[in-house]
Amino acid sequence: MIVLASDHAGFPLKEEIKTFLDGKGVEYIDCGTDSTASVDYAKFAQTACLKVTGGEADKAILCCGTGIGISMAANKVKGIRAACCSDYFSAKFTRMHNDANVLCMGARVIGGGLACELVDVFLNTEFEGGRHQRRVDQITAIENGEIL
Ligand code: RB5
Repeated sequence: MIVLASDHAGFPLKEEIKTFLDGKGVEYIDCGTDSTASVDYAKFAQTACLKVTGGEADKAILCCGTGIGISMAANKVKGIRAACCSDYFSAKFTRMHNDANVLCMGARVIGGGLACELVDVFLNTEFEGGRHQRRVDQITAIENGEIL
């Protein structure tokens, strides 16, 4: 299960991604927003990310204008590793090397076609583990207040 969320700026891109996921038969939960009326992105990021950390969803896809604000908010949720991506290589390698569980994109940065390609590779690329697991564990240690 995938969870989606956006603010007003990301709303049109979220809708395009939903159409793409429908075509692929991928199930998702839509946490809003549901229009282009202005809203604040932090709450939408938090609602979606808590579904990931709570086990209701495996990954989240978040959209705002730049992808940045919503990724900053997402990364404040314990257990979330959110990557703001606008290119294919980053969307692939943030899964392989960072075990990212949230993909963030900017609706004012990339078009729907590229965004759907990023979603596809993000959802279908496995974490490599190995030395990368040690590095991800260090990120978690920072999150837990440890000094590396
Ligand atoms: C909204 O205007 C915009 O600031 C927001 O979508 C996002 O780009 C923030 O990072």
